[in-house]
Amino acid sequence: MTTLANLTDHYTPEARAQAETELFGLLRIPSVSADPAHAGDMAHAAEFLRAKLAALGFSARTDETAGHPVVYAEHLKAPGAPTVLIYGHYDVQPEAPLDKWETPPFEPTVRGGRVYARGATDDKGQAYAHIRGVELLLSQGADSSKTLPLNVKFLLEGEEEVGSANLEPYIRQHQEMLKADAIIISDGSRFAPDVPTVTYGLRGLSYVEVHVTGANRDLHSGSYGGAAPNAINMLANIISRLKDDQGRVTIPGFYDGVEDLTETERGMWAGLPHDDAAFAASIGATALPGEAGYSTLERLWARPTLDVNGIWGGYQGEGSKTVIAGTAGAKISMRLVPGQDPERITRLIQAYVPTIAPEGAQVEVKALHGGQPVLIDLENPYVQAAGRALEHVHGKPPKFTRGGGSIPIVSAFRELLHAPVVLLDFGLNEDAPHSPNESFALSDYHNGVLTSARMLQEIAAGREA
Ligand code: BES
Ligand code: MN
Ligand code: MN
Repeated sequence: MTTLANLTDHYTPEARAQAETELFGLLRIPSVSADPAHAGDMAHAAEFLRAKLAALGFSARTDETAGHPVVYAEHLKAPGAPTVLIYGHYDVQPEAPLDKWETPPFEPTVRGGRVYARGATDDKGQAYAHIRGVELLLSQGADSSKTLPLNVKFLLEGEEEVGSANLEPYIRQHQEMLKADAIIISDGSRFAPDVPTVTYGLRGLSYVEVHVTGANRDLHSGSYGGAAPNAINMLANIISRLKDDQGRVTIPGFYDGVEDLTETERGMWAGLPHDDAAFAASIGATALPGEAGYSTLERLWARPTLDVNGIWGGYQGEGSKTVIAGTAGAKISMRLVPGQDPERITRLIQAYVPTIAPEGAQVEVKALHGGQPVLIDLENPYVQAAGRALEHVHGKPPKFTRGGGSIPIVSAFRELLHAPVVLLDFGLNEDAPHSPNESFALSDYHNGVLTSARMLQEIAAGREA
Protein backbone atom coordinates (compact mmCIF):
# COMPACT_ATOMS: atom_id res chain seq x y z
CA MET A 1 0.00 0.00 0.00
CA THR A 2 1.14 3.52 -0.77
CA THR A 3 2.40 5.34 2.26
CA LEU A 4 1.18 8.73 3.37
CA ALA A 5 4.59 10.34 2.97
CA ASN A 6 4.39 9.24 -0.60
CA LEU A 7 0.93 10.75 -0.98
CA THR A 8 1.90 14.10 0.51
CA ASP A 9 5.04 14.23 -1.64
CA HIS A 10 2.88 13.60 -4.63
CA TYR A 11 0.67 16.58 -3.85
CA THR A 12 3.13 18.96 -5.43
CA PRO A 13 2.99 22.75 -5.44
CA GLU A 14 1.92 22.48 -9.09
CA ALA A 15 -0.93 20.12 -8.23
CA ARG A 16 -1.99 22.43 -5.40
CA ALA A 17 -2.01 25.45 -7.66
CA GLN A 18 -4.02 23.56 -10.24
CA ALA A 19 -6.50 22.37 -7.62
CA GLU A 20 -7.02 26.00 -6.60
CA THR A 21 -7.42 27.33 -10.13
CA GLU A 22 -9.99 24.68 -10.94
CA LEU A 23 -12.01 25.29 -7.79
CA PHE A 24 -12.00 29.02 -8.50
CA GLY A 25 -13.42 28.26 -11.95
CA LEU A 26 -16.33 26.46 -10.32
CA LEU A 27 -16.80 29.25 -7.77
CA ARG A 28 -17.15 31.76 -10.61
CA ILE A 29 -20.37 30.09 -11.76
CA PRO A 30 -23.30 31.67 -9.85
CA SER A 31 -25.22 28.43 -9.29
CA VAL A 32 -27.94 29.78 -6.99
CA SER A 33 -30.58 27.06 -6.95
CA ALA A 34 -33.31 29.18 -5.36
CA ASP A 35 -33.40 31.71 -8.18
CA PRO A 36 -34.95 30.62 -11.51
CA ALA A 37 -32.89 33.32 -13.27
CA HIS A 38 -29.81 31.13 -12.61
CA ALA A 39 -31.11 27.98 -14.37
CA GLY A 40 -28.45 28.39 -17.07
CA ASP A 41 -25.70 28.71 -14.46
CA MET A 42 -26.93 25.52 -12.79
CA ALA A 43 -26.57 23.63 -16.06
CA HIS A 44 -23.15 25.24 -16.56
CA ALA A 45 -21.89 24.15 -13.12
CA ALA A 46 -23.20 20.61 -13.64
CA GLU A 47 -21.43 20.38 -17.00
CA PHE A 48 -18.21 21.77 -15.45
CA LEU A 49 -18.20 18.89 -12.95
CA ARG A 50 -19.22 16.25 -15.48
CA ALA A 51 -16.41 17.28 -17.82
CA LYS A 52 -13.86 17.23 -15.01
CA LEU A 53 -14.87 13.77 -13.86
CA ALA A 54 -14.89 12.50 -17.44
CA ALA A 55 -11.36 13.86 -17.86
CA LEU A 56 -10.33 11.79 -14.83
CA GLY A 57 -11.54 8.65 -16.59
CA PHE A 58 -14.94 8.43 -14.97
CA SER A 59 -18.00 7.48 -16.92
CA ALA A 60 -19.80 10.76 -16.22
CA ARG A 61 -23.15 12.25 -17.09
CA THR A 62 -25.64 14.94 -16.13
CA ASP A 63 -29.21 13.76 -15.62
CA GLU A 64 -32.16 16.09 -15.92
CA THR A 65 -34.66 16.12 -13.06
CA ALA A 66 -37.85 18.07 -12.48
CA GLY A 67 -35.49 20.68 -11.03
CA HIS A 68 -31.75 21.17 -11.50
CA PRO A 69 -29.55 18.46 -13.04
CA VAL A 70 -27.80 15.72 -11.08
CA VAL A 71 -24.19 14.91 -11.92
CA TYR A 72 -23.41 11.20 -11.71
CA ALA A 73 -20.02 9.66 -12.41
CA GLU A 74 -18.49 6.26 -11.75
CA HIS A 75 -15.04 4.70 -11.87
CA LEU A 76 -15.63 0.98 -11.41
CA LYS A 77 -12.38 -0.63 -12.39
CA ALA A 78 -11.45 -2.45 -9.18
CA PRO A 79 -13.45 -5.68 -9.17
CA GLY A 80 -13.80 -7.14 -5.69
CA ALA A 81 -12.72 -3.92 -3.99
CA PRO A 82 -15.15 -1.77 -1.96
CA THR A 83 -17.30 0.88 -3.64
CA VAL A 84 -17.82 4.31 -2.13
CA LEU A 85 -20.36 6.93 -3.17
CA ILE A 86 -19.25 10.52 -2.61
CA TYR A 87 -22.13 12.98 -2.32
CA GLY A 88 -21.94 16.76 -2.52
CA HIS A 89 -23.90 19.72 -3.86
CA TYR A 90 -22.93 22.28 -6.45
CA ASP A 91 -25.80 24.67 -5.74
CA VAL A 92 -25.24 27.62 -3.42
CA GLN A 93 -27.32 29.93 -1.27
CA PRO A 94 -28.33 33.32 -2.68
CA GLU A 95 -25.57 35.92 -2.26
CA ALA A 96 -27.80 38.60 -0.68
CA PRO A 97 -27.11 41.01 0.99
CA LEU A 98 -24.66 41.91 -1.77
CA ASP A 99 -23.51 45.18 -0.18
CA LYS A 100 -22.11 43.27 2.81
CA TRP A 101 -19.53 41.43 0.63
CA GLU A 102 -16.01 42.85 0.66
CA THR A 103 -15.32 41.35 -2.76
CA PRO A 104 -17.98 40.14 -5.22
CA PRO A 105 -19.47 36.75 -4.28
CA PHE A 106 -18.77 35.14 -7.63
CA GLU A 107 -15.27 36.51 -8.11
CA PRO A 108 -13.21 34.18 -5.92
CA THR A 109 -10.56 36.26 -4.13
CA VAL A 110 -7.73 35.05 -1.91
CA ARG A 111 -7.06 37.04 1.27
CA GLY A 112 -5.08 35.77 4.22
CA GLY A 113 -4.92 32.19 2.96
CA ARG A 114 -8.67 31.95 2.38
CA VAL A 115 -10.68 32.01 -0.80
CA TYR A 116 -13.74 34.22 -0.49
CA ALA A 117 -16.76 33.33 -2.62
CA ARG A 118 -20.31 32.09 -2.26
CA GLY A 119 -20.14 28.30 -2.10
CA ALA A 120 -16.44 28.27 -1.14
CA THR A 121 -17.09 26.02 1.89
CA ASP A 122 -20.77 25.10 1.28
CA ASP A 123 -20.28 22.98 -0.64
CA LYS A 124 -18.16 23.49 -3.76
CA GLY A 125 -14.80 23.60 -1.97
CA GLN A 126 -15.52 20.55 0.19
CA ALA A 127 -16.98 18.52 -2.68
CA TYR A 128 -14.16 19.47 -5.03
CA ALA A 129 -11.60 18.35 -2.44
CA HIS A 130 -12.82 14.79 -3.08
CA ILE A 131 -12.52 15.20 -6.83
CA ARG A 132 -8.92 16.34 -6.42
CA GLY A 133 -8.40 13.63 -3.79
CA VAL A 134 -9.34 11.03 -6.36
CA GLU A 135 -7.12 12.77 -8.90
CA LEU A 136 -4.22 12.63 -6.44
CA LEU A 137 -4.81 8.92 -5.97
CA LEU A 138 -4.99 8.38 -9.73
CA SER A 139 -1.66 10.14 -10.17
CA GLN A 140 -0.17 7.55 -7.78
CA GLY A 141 -0.90 4.64 -10.10
CA ALA A 142 2.52 3.07 -10.64
CA ASP A 143 2.25 3.30 -14.41
CA SER A 144 -0.13 6.27 -14.65
CA SER A 145 -2.65 3.69 -15.82
CA LYS A 146 -5.52 5.63 -14.29
CA THR A 147 -6.30 2.91 -11.81
CA LEU A 148 -7.82 3.35 -8.38
CA PRO A 149 -7.55 0.79 -5.59
CA LEU A 150 -11.34 0.85 -5.12
CA ASN A 151 -14.53 1.78 -6.94
CA VAL A 152 -15.72 5.36 -6.70
CA LYS A 153 -19.05 6.95 -7.57
CA PHE A 154 -19.86 10.68 -7.40
CA LEU A 155 -23.38 12.04 -6.92
CA LEU A 156 -23.44 15.84 -7.05
CA GLU A 157 -26.80 17.52 -6.81
CA GLY A 158 -28.02 21.05 -7.53
CA GLU A 159 -30.91 21.36 -5.10
CA GLU A 160 -29.53 20.78 -1.60
CA GLU A 161 -30.07 24.40 -0.58
CA VAL A 162 -33.72 24.23 -1.62
CA GLY A 163 -34.59 20.95 0.08
CA SER A 164 -33.41 18.22 -2.36
CA ALA A 165 -37.01 17.52 -3.43
CA ASN A 166 -36.00 15.80 -6.67
CA LEU A 167 -33.07 13.79 -5.34
CA GLU A 168 -34.99 11.22 -3.35
CA PRO A 169 -37.02 10.12 -6.42
CA TYR A 170 -33.73 10.07 -8.37
CA ILE A 171 -32.11 7.79 -5.79
CA ARG A 172 -35.21 5.59 -5.80
CA GLN A 173 -35.03 5.26 -9.59
CA HIS A 174 -31.29 4.57 -9.61
CA GLN A 175 -30.94 2.37 -6.55
CA GLU A 176 -28.90 -0.28 -8.35
CA MET A 177 -26.60 2.25 -10.05
CA LEU A 178 -25.93 4.09 -6.76
CA LYS A 179 -25.28 0.96 -4.70
CA ALA A 180 -22.21 1.41 -2.50
CA ASP A 181 -20.55 0.05 0.61
CA ALA A 182 -20.37 3.51 2.14
CA ILE A 183 -21.49 7.05 1.41
CA ILE A 184 -19.04 9.86 2.08
CA ILE A 185 -20.24 13.43 2.61
CA SER A 186 -18.20 16.56 3.30
CA ASP A 187 -20.80 19.29 3.71
CA GLY A 188 -20.57 20.64 7.21
CA SER A 189 -18.32 22.22 9.77
CA ARG A 190 -15.68 20.58 11.91
CA PHE A 191 -15.37 21.47 15.54
CA ALA A 192 -12.51 24.00 15.57
CA PRO A 193 -9.55 25.07 13.42
CA ASP A 194 -7.06 22.81 15.20
CA VAL A 195 -9.45 19.92 15.74
CA PRO A 196 -9.91 17.35 12.97
CA THR A 197 -13.43 16.03 13.27
CA VAL A 198 -15.65 13.21 12.17
CA THR A 199 -19.30 14.22 12.56
CA TYR A 200 -21.68 11.52 13.77
CA GLY A 201 -24.96 13.40 14.10
CA LEU A 202 -27.05 16.00 12.31
CA ARG A 203 -30.27 17.63 13.38
CA GLY A 204 -33.47 17.23 11.40
CA LEU A 205 -35.75 20.02 10.32
CA SER A 206 -39.36 21.06 10.10
CA TYR A 207 -39.89 24.35 8.29
CA VAL A 208 -43.23 26.17 8.24
CA GLU A 209 -44.75 29.54 7.41
CA VAL A 210 -47.35 31.09 9.67
CA HIS A 211 -49.80 33.47 7.96
CA VAL A 212 -52.07 35.70 10.03
CA THR A 213 -54.95 37.80 8.73
CA GLY A 214 -56.83 40.35 10.83
CA ALA A 215 -58.86 42.76 8.69
CA ASN A 216 -59.49 42.71 4.95
CA ARG A 217 -56.90 45.47 4.31
CA ASP A 218 -54.28 47.65 6.02
CA LEU A 219 -56.21 50.24 8.03
CA HIS A 220 -55.64 53.83 9.21
CA SER A 221 -54.16 53.38 12.68
CA GLY A 222 -55.98 56.45 13.98
CA SER A 223 -59.42 55.67 12.69
CA TYR A 224 -59.21 52.00 13.64
CA GLY A 225 -56.43 51.71 16.26
CA GLY A 226 -57.74 50.33 19.54
CA ALA A 227 -60.65 48.49 18.00
CA ALA A 228 -59.40 46.59 14.94
CA PRO A 229 -57.30 43.39 14.95
CA ASN A 230 -53.64 43.98 14.07
CA ALA A 231 -52.10 41.01 12.25
CA ILE A 232 -48.54 41.87 13.34
CA ASN A 233 -49.44 42.21 17.01
CA MET A 234 -51.31 38.93 16.82
CA LEU A 235 -48.44 37.16 15.05
CA ALA A 236 -45.98 38.50 17.65
CA ASN A 237 -48.27 37.20 20.35
CA ILE A 238 -48.36 33.74 18.77
CA ILE A 239 -44.58 33.66 18.35
CA SER A 240 -43.99 34.73 21.93
CA ARG A 241 -46.02 31.77 23.14
CA LEU A 242 -44.12 29.15 21.15
CA LYS A 243 -41.37 29.08 23.78
CA ASP A 244 -41.65 29.58 27.52
CA ASP A 245 -39.33 31.62 29.72
CA GLN A 246 -37.10 28.57 30.21
CA GLY A 247 -36.47 28.42 26.47
CA ARG A 248 -38.61 25.31 26.08
CA VAL A 249 -40.87 24.88 23.07
CA THR A 250 -44.48 24.85 24.27
CA ILE A 251 -46.02 22.78 21.46
CA PRO A 252 -47.68 19.81 23.20
CA GLY A 253 -45.87 16.56 22.36
CA PHE A 254 -42.86 18.38 20.86
CA TYR A 255 -40.36 16.64 23.16
CA ASP A 256 -42.00 13.20 23.03
CA GLY A 257 -39.41 10.59 22.17
CA VAL A 258 -36.42 12.93 22.37
CA GLU A 259 -33.48 10.78 23.36
CA ASP A 260 -31.25 11.75 26.25
CA LEU A 261 -27.54 12.06 25.75
CA THR A 262 -25.74 8.87 26.71
CA GLU A 263 -23.08 9.01 29.40
CA THR A 264 -20.50 8.08 26.78
CA GLU A 265 -21.44 11.11 24.70
CA ARG A 266 -21.55 13.37 27.71
CA GLY A 267 -18.01 12.26 28.51
CA MET A 268 -16.81 12.75 24.93
CA TRP A 269 -18.24 16.25 24.77
CA ALA A 270 -16.90 17.28 28.14
CA GLY A 271 -13.40 16.81 26.69
CA LEU A 272 -14.01 19.17 23.77
CA PRO A 273 -12.35 22.56 23.90
CA HIS A 274 -15.51 24.67 24.06
CA ASP A 275 -15.72 28.05 25.77
CA ASP A 276 -19.05 29.89 26.02
CA ALA A 277 -17.49 33.34 26.22
CA ALA A 278 -15.34 32.76 23.14
CA PHE A 279 -18.32 31.29 21.30
CA ALA A 280 -20.45 34.35 22.16
CA ALA A 281 -17.62 36.67 21.13
CA SER A 282 -17.20 34.85 17.80
CA ILE A 283 -20.71 35.93 16.80
CA GLY A 284 -20.63 39.30 18.53
CA ALA A 285 -23.37 38.27 20.98
CA THR A 286 -23.67 39.35 24.61
CA ALA A 287 -25.57 36.27 25.77
CA LEU A 288 -26.35 32.73 24.63
CA PRO A 289 -30.05 32.28 25.34
CA GLY A 290 -31.42 28.73 25.05
CA GLU A 291 -33.11 25.88 26.80
CA ALA A 292 -32.44 25.97 30.54
CA GLY A 293 -30.53 23.08 32.06
CA TYR A 294 -28.43 22.17 29.02
CA SER A 295 -24.92 23.11 27.99
CA THR A 296 -24.32 25.04 24.79
CA LEU A 297 -23.04 22.00 22.91
CA GLU A 298 -26.00 19.97 24.08
CA ARG A 299 -28.40 22.70 22.94
CA LEU A 300 -26.71 22.89 19.56
CA TRP A 301 -26.37 19.20 18.83
CA ALA A 302 -28.71 17.15 20.98
CA ARG A 303 -31.70 19.35 21.79
CA PRO A 304 -34.44 20.45 19.42
CA THR A 305 -35.22 24.12 19.02
CA LEU A 306 -37.48 26.62 17.29
CA ASP A 307 -36.45 29.85 15.57
CA VAL A 308 -38.15 32.53 13.55
CA ASN A 309 -36.17 32.92 10.31
CA GLY A 310 -38.10 35.79 8.76
CA ILE A 311 -41.05 38.04 9.51
CA TRP A 312 -43.10 40.47 7.50
CA GLY A 313 -46.19 42.67 7.58
CA GLY A 314 -47.20 46.33 7.61
CA TYR A 315 -44.96 49.14 6.50
CA GLN A 316 -41.19 48.65 6.20
CA GLY A 317 -40.18 51.58 3.96
CA GLU A 318 -38.58 54.94 4.76
CA GLY A 319 -40.14 57.14 7.42
CA SER A 320 -43.42 56.35 9.07
CA LYS A 321 -46.79 55.25 7.83
CA THR A 322 -49.61 55.05 10.34
CA VAL A 323 -51.23 51.78 9.49
CA ILE A 324 -52.62 48.63 11.09
CA ALA A 325 -51.46 45.55 9.22
CA GLY A 326 -54.20 43.44 7.68
CA THR A 327 -51.83 40.50 7.18
CA ALA A 328 -48.52 39.33 8.60
CA GLY A 329 -46.37 36.24 8.33
CA ALA A 330 -43.31 34.48 9.65
CA LYS A 331 -41.00 31.70 8.57
CA ILE A 332 -40.24 29.30 11.39
CA SER A 333 -37.71 26.48 11.48
CA MET A 334 -37.55 23.76 14.08
CA ARG A 335 -34.30 21.80 14.37
CA LEU A 336 -35.02 18.24 15.43
CA VAL A 337 -33.07 15.48 17.11
CA PRO A 338 -33.22 11.68 17.11
CA GLY A 339 -36.61 10.49 18.32
CA GLN A 340 -38.50 13.29 16.56
CA ASP A 341 -40.19 12.87 13.20
CA PRO A 342 -40.39 16.00 11.02
CA GLU A 343 -43.85 15.23 9.63
CA ARG A 344 -45.24 14.63 13.09
CA ILE A 345 -43.69 17.86 14.39
CA THR A 346 -45.18 19.77 11.45
CA ARG A 347 -48.64 18.37 12.26
CA LEU A 348 -48.19 19.31 15.93
CA ILE A 349 -47.41 22.97 15.20
CA GLN A 350 -50.22 23.11 12.64
CA ALA A 351 -52.63 21.91 15.32
CA TYR A 352 -51.19 24.08 18.09
CA VAL A 353 -50.96 27.55 16.54
CA PRO A 354 -54.75 27.95 16.04
CA THR A 355 -55.26 27.13 19.74
CA ILE A 356 -53.01 30.00 20.87
CA ALA A 357 -54.09 32.53 18.24
CA PRO A 358 -55.74 35.63 19.73
CA GLU A 359 -59.38 36.28 19.01
CA GLY A 360 -59.76 37.87 15.59
CA ALA A 361 -56.73 36.14 14.05
CA GLN A 362 -57.24 33.91 11.07
CA VAL A 363 -54.17 31.69 10.93
CA GLU A 364 -52.72 29.27 8.46
CA VAL A 365 -49.59 27.17 9.05
CA LYS A 366 -48.08 26.03 5.76
CA ALA A 367 -45.51 23.23 5.68
CA LEU A 368 -42.48 24.04 3.50
CA HIS A 369 -40.00 21.20 3.93
CA GLY A 370 -38.34 18.93 6.42
CA GLY A 371 -35.61 16.42 7.04
CA GLN A 372 -34.89 13.53 9.39
CA PRO A 373 -32.27 13.80 12.13
CA VAL A 374 -29.26 11.52 11.75
CA LEU A 375 -27.09 9.61 14.18
CA ILE A 376 -24.18 7.55 12.88
CA ASP A 377 -22.67 4.44 14.44
CA LEU A 378 -19.09 5.29 15.35
CA GLU A 379 -18.08 1.65 15.20
CA ASN A 380 -18.65 1.38 11.46
CA PRO A 381 -15.36 0.65 9.70
CA TYR A 382 -15.77 3.48 7.19
CA VAL A 383 -16.06 6.06 9.97
CA GLN A 384 -12.93 4.52 11.47
CA ALA A 385 -11.13 4.74 8.11
CA ALA A 386 -12.03 8.43 7.86
CA GLY A 387 -10.71 8.91 11.38
CA ARG A 388 -7.40 7.24 10.54
CA ALA A 389 -7.07 9.38 7.41
CA LEU A 390 -7.56 12.53 9.50
CA GLU A 391 -5.00 11.35 12.00
CA HIS A 392 -2.44 10.79 9.24
CA VAL A 393 -3.00 14.20 7.69
CA HIS A 394 -3.25 16.24 10.92
CA GLY A 395 -0.90 14.24 13.10
CA LYS A 396 -3.48 13.88 15.85
CA PRO A 397 -6.54 11.73 16.36
CA PRO A 398 -9.90 13.26 15.38
CA LYS A 399 -12.69 14.19 17.73
CA PHE A 400 -16.12 12.73 17.15
CA THR A 401 -18.75 15.45 17.33
CA ARG A 402 -22.29 16.14 16.20
CA GLY A 403 -23.47 19.09 14.13
CA GLY A 404 -26.48 21.34 14.47
CA GLY A 405 -27.28 21.67 10.75
CA SER A 406 -29.28 19.39 8.49
CA ILE A 407 -28.62 17.41 5.32
CA PRO A 408 -32.08 16.03 4.62
CA ILE A 409 -31.02 13.53 1.94
CA VAL A 410 -28.89 11.52 4.36
CA SER A 411 -31.88 9.55 5.65
CA ALA A 412 -32.87 8.67 2.07
CA PHE A 413 -29.36 7.35 1.48
CA ARG A 414 -29.61 5.12 4.49
CA GLU A 415 -33.13 3.88 3.74
CA LEU A 416 -32.76 3.36 0.01
CA LEU A 417 -29.12 2.41 -0.35
CA HIS A 418 -28.73 0.65 3.02
CA ALA A 419 -25.16 1.87 3.33
CA PRO A 420 -23.41 3.57 6.24
CA VAL A 421 -22.85 7.32 5.88
CA VAL A 422 -19.58 9.04 6.81
CA LEU A 423 -19.67 12.77 7.56
CA LEU A 424 -16.14 14.02 7.08
CA ASP A 425 -16.29 17.78 7.44
CA PHE A 426 -13.46 19.97 6.14
CA GLY A 427 -15.12 23.37 6.74
CA LEU A 428 -15.61 25.56 9.80
CA ASN A 429 -18.54 27.62 11.05
CA GLU A 430 -16.25 30.64 10.81
CA ASP A 431 -16.14 30.07 7.04
CA ALA A 432 -19.53 31.81 7.24
CA PRO A 433 -21.62 29.51 5.05
CA HIS A 434 -24.91 31.20 4.00
CA SER A 435 -23.50 34.56 5.20
CA PRO A 436 -21.80 37.40 3.33
CA ASN A 437 -18.05 36.86 2.83
CA GLU A 438 -18.25 33.08 2.86
CA SER A 439 -14.77 31.62 2.60
CA PHE A 440 -12.73 28.42 2.78
CA ALA A 441 -9.17 28.21 4.08
CA LEU A 442 -6.90 26.95 1.31
CA SER A 443 -5.07 24.84 3.89
CA ASP A 444 -8.39 23.18 4.76
CA TYR A 445 -9.02 22.59 1.08
CA HIS A 446 -5.65 20.93 0.55
CA ASN A 447 -5.93 18.93 3.77
CA GLY A 448 -9.33 17.83 2.45
CA VAL A 449 -7.73 16.62 -0.77
CA LEU A 450 -5.12 14.67 1.19
CA THR A 451 -7.64 13.30 3.67
CA SER A 452 -9.93 12.17 0.88
CA ALA A 453 -7.12 10.37 -0.93
CA ARG A 454 -5.84 8.82 2.28
CA MET A 455 -9.31 7.69 3.34
CA LEU A 456 -9.87 6.00 -0.02
CA GLN A 457 -6.56 4.19 0.42
CA GLU A 458 -7.56 3.14 3.93
CA ILE A 459 -10.90 1.83 2.71
CA ALA A 460 -9.28 -0.03 -0.18
CA ALA A 461 -6.78 -1.62 2.18
CA GLY A 462 -9.65 -2.63 4.46
CA ARG A 463 -7.50 -2.49 7.55
CA GLU A 464 -9.18 -2.78 10.90
CA ALA A 465 -8.53 -0.10 13.46
N1 BES B 1 -24.04 22.18 4.46
C1 BES B 1 -25.26 22.52 5.07
C2 BES B 1 -25.63 21.63 6.26
C3 BES B 1 -24.75 21.75 7.48
C4 BES B 1 -24.32 22.96 7.95
C5 BES B 1 -24.45 20.61 8.17
C6 BES B 1 -23.55 23.04 9.08
C7 BES B 1 -23.68 20.66 9.30
C8 BES B 1 -23.21 21.91 9.76
C9 BES B 1 -26.37 22.46 4.04
O1 BES B 1 -25.97 22.99 2.80
C10 BES B 1 -27.53 23.28 4.51
O2 BES B 1 -27.42 24.48 4.51
N2 BES B 1 -28.64 22.63 4.91
C11 BES B 1 -29.81 23.33 5.30
C12 BES B 1 -31.02 22.48 5.12
C13 BES B 1 -31.72 22.60 3.81
C14 BES B 1 -33.03 21.85 3.83
C15 BES B 1 -31.92 24.00 3.32
C16 BES B 1 -29.77 23.74 6.74
O3 BES B 1 -29.17 23.04 7.58
O4 BES B 1 -30.35 24.77 7.05
MN1 MN C 1 -24.16 22.30 2.22
MN1 MN D 1 -26.01 25.18 2.92
